[in-house]
Amino acid sequence: MERTFVMVKPDGVERRLVGEIIRRFENRGLRLVGLRLLTPSREIAEAHYAVHRERPFFGELVDFVTSGPVVAMAWEGNQAISLVRTMMGALKPELALPGTIRGDYTTDIQTNLVHGSDAPETAGQEIALWFGADGLTN
Ligand code: CMP
Repeated sequence: MERTFVMVKPDGVERRLVGEIIRRFENRGLRLVGLRLLTPSREIAEAHYAVHRERPFFGELVDFVTSGPVVAMAWEGNQAISLVRTMMGALKPELALPGTIRGDYTTDIQTNLVHGSDAPETAGQEIALWFGADGLTN
Protein backbone atom coordinates (compact mmCIF):
# COMPACT_ATOMS: atom_id res chain seq x y z
CA MET A 1 0.00 0.00 0.00
CA GLU A 2 1.25 3.42 -0.95
CA ARG A 3 0.01 6.94 -0.38
CA THR A 4 0.36 9.78 -2.84
CA PHE A 5 -0.45 13.48 -2.97
CA VAL A 6 -2.72 14.77 -5.75
CA MET A 7 -3.74 18.35 -6.42
CA VAL A 8 -6.50 19.45 -8.76
CA LYS A 9 -5.10 22.81 -9.88
CA PRO A 10 -7.12 26.02 -10.23
CA ASP A 11 -7.96 25.27 -13.88
CA GLY A 12 -9.46 21.92 -12.88
CA VAL A 13 -11.64 23.49 -10.18
CA GLU A 14 -12.66 26.35 -12.52
CA ARG A 15 -13.60 23.85 -15.24
CA ARG A 16 -15.71 21.75 -12.80
CA LEU A 17 -13.50 18.70 -13.29
CA VAL A 18 -13.00 17.85 -9.59
CA GLY A 19 -15.76 15.23 -9.56
CA GLU A 20 -14.56 13.66 -12.79
CA ILE A 21 -10.99 13.38 -11.49
CA ILE A 22 -12.07 11.91 -8.14
CA ARG A 23 -14.40 9.49 -9.94
CA ARG A 24 -11.56 8.17 -12.08
CA PHE A 25 -9.36 7.42 -9.06
CA GLU A 26 -12.24 5.90 -7.08
CA ASN A 27 -13.34 3.74 -10.01
CA ARG A 28 -9.81 2.44 -10.30
CA GLY A 29 -9.91 1.31 -6.66
CA LEU A 30 -7.83 3.95 -4.93
CA ARG A 31 -9.02 5.14 -1.51
CA LEU A 32 -9.38 8.83 -0.70
CA VAL A 33 -7.65 9.43 2.65
CA GLY A 34 -7.38 13.24 2.72
CA LEU A 35 -9.08 16.19 1.02
CA ARG A 36 -8.89 19.99 1.36
CA LEU A 37 -10.24 22.83 -0.76
CA LEU A 38 -8.06 25.93 -0.38
CA THR A 39 -6.51 28.81 -2.25
CA PRO A 40 -2.80 28.19 -1.70
CA SER A 41 -0.56 30.88 -0.20
CA ARG A 42 2.56 31.80 -2.16
CA GLU A 43 4.54 30.24 0.67
CA ILE A 44 2.99 26.80 0.30
CA ALA A 45 3.09 26.96 -3.53
CA GLU A 46 6.77 27.93 -3.52
CA ALA A 47 7.56 25.14 -1.06
CA HIS A 48 5.59 22.62 -3.09
CA TYR A 49 7.39 23.56 -6.32
CA ALA A 50 10.80 24.30 -4.70
CA VAL A 51 12.50 21.81 -7.02
CA HIS A 52 11.55 24.08 -9.97
CA ARG A 53 12.77 27.31 -8.34
CA GLU A 54 15.47 27.95 -10.97
CA ARG A 55 13.25 27.16 -13.96
CA PRO A 56 12.14 30.07 -16.17
CA PHE A 57 8.47 29.21 -15.61
CA PHE A 58 8.68 29.17 -11.79
CA GLY A 59 7.14 32.63 -11.16
CA GLU A 60 4.33 32.01 -13.61
CA LEU A 61 3.72 28.57 -12.10
CA VAL A 62 3.38 30.02 -8.58
CA ASP A 63 1.08 32.79 -9.91
CA PHE A 64 -1.07 30.14 -11.59
CA VAL A 65 -1.35 27.74 -8.68
CA THR A 66 -2.22 30.54 -6.22
CA SER A 67 -4.79 32.10 -8.59
CA GLY A 68 -7.80 30.30 -7.10
CA PRO A 69 -8.95 27.30 -5.12
CA VAL A 70 -7.28 23.93 -5.56
CA VAL A 71 -8.28 20.53 -4.22
CA ALA A 72 -5.46 18.90 -2.28
CA MET A 73 -5.92 15.17 -1.80
CA ALA A 74 -4.16 12.12 -0.47
CA TRP A 75 -4.91 8.79 -2.13
CA GLU A 76 -3.98 5.30 -0.98
CA GLY A 77 -3.66 2.07 -2.89
CA ASN A 78 -1.48 -0.52 -4.52
CA GLN A 79 1.30 1.35 -6.38
CA ALA A 80 -0.70 4.55 -5.91
CA ILE A 81 2.15 6.89 -6.89
CA SER A 82 2.85 5.49 -10.34
CA LEU A 83 -0.79 4.56 -10.92
CA VAL A 84 -1.91 8.15 -10.41
CA ARG A 85 0.84 9.44 -12.70
CA THR A 86 -0.16 6.99 -15.42
CA MET A 87 -3.80 8.07 -15.09
CA MET A 88 -2.84 11.78 -15.16
CA GLY A 89 -0.95 11.43 -18.45
CA ALA A 90 2.37 12.86 -19.53
CA LEU A 91 3.52 16.42 -18.85
CA LYS A 92 4.16 17.14 -22.52
CA PRO A 93 0.71 17.66 -24.06
CA GLU A 94 1.61 15.81 -27.26
CA LEU A 95 2.56 12.74 -25.19
CA ALA A 96 -0.50 12.73 -22.91
CA LEU A 97 -2.52 9.85 -24.32
CA PRO A 98 -6.29 9.85 -24.79
CA GLY A 99 -7.87 8.12 -21.80
CA THR A 100 -5.64 9.97 -19.35
CA ILE A 101 -6.86 13.06 -17.48
CA ARG A 102 -4.52 15.44 -19.31
CA GLY A 103 -4.95 13.58 -22.59
CA ASP A 104 -8.72 13.95 -22.39
CA TYR A 105 -9.00 17.52 -21.07
CA THR A 106 -6.00 19.78 -21.83
CA THR A 107 -3.44 20.73 -24.43
CA ASP A 108 -1.41 23.09 -22.23
CA ILE A 109 1.81 22.24 -20.37
CA GLN A 110 1.05 24.61 -17.47
CA THR A 111 -2.72 24.50 -17.06
CA ASN A 112 -2.59 20.72 -16.93
CA LEU A 113 -5.34 20.16 -14.34
CA VAL A 114 -3.55 17.84 -11.93
CA HIS A 115 -0.34 17.27 -10.02
CA GLY A 116 0.69 13.91 -8.59
CA SER A 117 3.75 13.05 -6.51
CA ASP A 118 6.59 11.48 -8.48
CA ALA A 119 8.20 9.25 -5.80
CA PRO A 120 7.64 7.93 -2.25
CA GLU A 121 9.91 10.61 -0.75
CA THR A 122 8.10 13.50 -2.44
CA ALA A 123 4.71 11.93 -1.66
CA GLY A 124 5.58 11.98 2.06
CA GLN A 125 6.88 15.54 1.87
CA GLU A 126 3.87 16.81 -0.08
CA ILE A 127 1.29 15.12 2.18
CA ALA A 128 3.04 16.66 5.21
CA LEU A 129 3.20 20.09 3.52
CA TRP A 130 -0.48 20.21 2.55
CA PHE A 131 -2.04 18.28 5.45
CA GLY A 132 0.41 18.83 8.31
CA ALA A 133 2.43 16.15 10.02
CA ASP A 134 -0.66 14.46 11.50
CA GLY A 135 -3.27 15.91 9.19
CA LEU A 136 -4.50 12.59 7.79
CA THR A 137 -6.91 11.03 10.23
CA ASN A 138 -7.33 7.60 8.65
P1 CMP B 1 3.29 19.43 -12.27
O1 CMP B 1 3.16 17.98 -12.56
O2 CMP B 1 2.49 20.00 -11.16
O3 CMP B 1 4.84 19.76 -12.02
C1 CMP B 1 5.40 21.02 -12.29
C2 CMP B 1 4.47 21.92 -13.03
O4 CMP B 1 5.11 22.99 -13.69
C3 CMP B 1 3.80 21.15 -14.15
O5 CMP B 1 2.90 20.23 -13.63
C4 CMP B 1 3.24 22.27 -14.98
O6 CMP B 1 2.04 22.81 -14.42
C5 CMP B 1 4.36 23.29 -14.85
N1 CMP B 1 5.30 23.23 -15.97
C6 CMP B 1 6.18 22.27 -16.27
N2 CMP B 1 6.89 22.56 -17.36
C7 CMP B 1 6.45 23.77 -17.77
C8 CMP B 1 6.81 24.64 -18.85
N3 CMP B 1 7.75 24.31 -19.73
N4 CMP B 1 6.14 25.80 -18.96
C9 CMP B 1 5.20 26.14 -18.07
N5 CMP B 1 4.82 25.35 -17.02
C10 CMP B 1 5.43 24.19 -16.88
